[in-house]
Amino acid sequence: MNTVDVTSPHLYRQGIPHERFSAMRATPGLTWHPYESGGFWAVTRHADVRQVSTTPEIFSSAIGHTNLWDLEADALEARRSIIDTDAPEHTRLRRIVSRAFTPRNVRRWEQTTRDIVVELVEEFVAQGGGDWVELVAAPLPIRVILSILGVPIEDAHFLVELSSHLVEGTGDQPSLAADAYGNTTPLHLLPFGSPASHALFEYGERMAQLRRSEPSDDLVTTLVRAEDDGEQLSAAEYRNFFHLLVFAGNETTRTALTHGAMAFAAHPEQWDRLVADSDHLDTAVEEVLRWATPVLHMRRTATQDTELAGTPIAAGEKVVMWYASANRDPEVFDDPLAFDIARPDNPHVAFGGGGPHFCLGASLARMEIGVLLEEMAKRNLRLEQTGVAERAPSNFVHSVLSVHMSPVGS
Ligand code: HEM
Repeated sequence: MNTVDVTSPHLYRQGIPHERFSAMRATPGLTWHPYESGGFWAVTRHADVRQVSTTPEIFSSAIGHTNLWDLEADALEARRSIIDTDAPEHTRLRRIVSRAFTPRNVRRWEQTTRDIVVELVEEFVAQGGGDWVELVAAPLPIRVILSILGVPIEDAHFLVELSSHLVEGTGDQPSLAADAYGNTTPLHLLPFGSPASHALFEYGERMAQLRRSEPSDDLVTTLVRAEDDGEQLSAAEYRNFFHLLVFAGNETTRTALTHGAMAFAAHPEQWDRLVADSDHLDTAVEEVLRWATPVLHMRRTATQDTELAGTPIAAGEKVVMWYASANRDPEVFDDPLAFDIARPDNPHVAFGGGGPHFCLGASLARMEIGVLLEEMAKRNLRLEQTGVAERAPSNFVHSVLSVHMSPVGS
């Protein structure tokens, strides 16, 4: 039935298979997609993604987990983070960490972000361009999240390296030996099955020890310290959360910043609009997010027999929400394949389709993208793409590993 396997990691080296998703959206009901020993219902329409996201009692994040493949029970427990939980556990975890990420708290980090942006952008221009990922898109989010966590900035390179290895773990060609970074944990117990997760856990634990003895005004201190109401993360919850923050706060935003740069280079008239009228800034940020769709999908599992878009779903079956498809749904977006920074209505699902797991870092990511575009627009830093983008072979994250850009007309 599937002429193109939308789970093939290598497919994404050519970009998102929009034609295939378009055909799936046009097929009535949901499409059954074979995968490994089982399979899943592919949810490709915007309205259906919203429905799944906002009905967590029927579509669970905790049964199985939120990735395509199945995990053994021991692995599921060892790897579980906030994203793989349901209420009431999810509600408790989210309460402990959500305060740090409210729009108001995120504004506290705007000046730090702007300082980092100015430094990176000026260096990029001074060098006459280069690999946009290496020079701007990767260092910006990692430096911001490390500032928020209270982690030394000198370690940014190491953490970017670990994060890149985790992306490899979502493809089928991991580059690390099982004992890399001194790992002795069986790989199936580690997030992304990667020894880089072991290194990240160890790093997070060292940070926790430091902040227990020397508390500071940072997120690691918040995470390791008992709250007034006695809420505290267990050791496993802490390390999985630290891991998720470093990965989620880094890889996804990097991807948005890269696809944004590529989109403006390919559509110079959109750049001119932004430079001419800074009122377009907020809508441009949303369009970059829709365009990039850094997370291609998330999975849920049916808790009971149910029905979606007229298709019966049995309890225990997997349901995969393809954000990459929903963000091009013509039922919701006029001319969905056009990059239009002034879209008046842009209810994209790049941060998820709503509901309890809606991205915790959405305000932070929006702020980072906005500050970068604003500082670039102030300088009229027009970009020209001077090399072919090397995309990651991943069906989960829409990553670009490297892409050369040059400044023009600045
Ligand atoms: C452009 C950047 C980003 C994109 C596209 C993105 C996307 C997503 C998506 C699709 C989800 C899952 C939603 C769902 O299952 O319903 C998610 C969850 C999450 N994101 Fe992000 N994210 C981004 C940036 C960030 C940042 C900067 C952070 C942290 C600092 C972060 C932390 C999280 C966390 C902790 C969750 C799990 C929330 C929960 O389960 O309650 N994300 N994100």
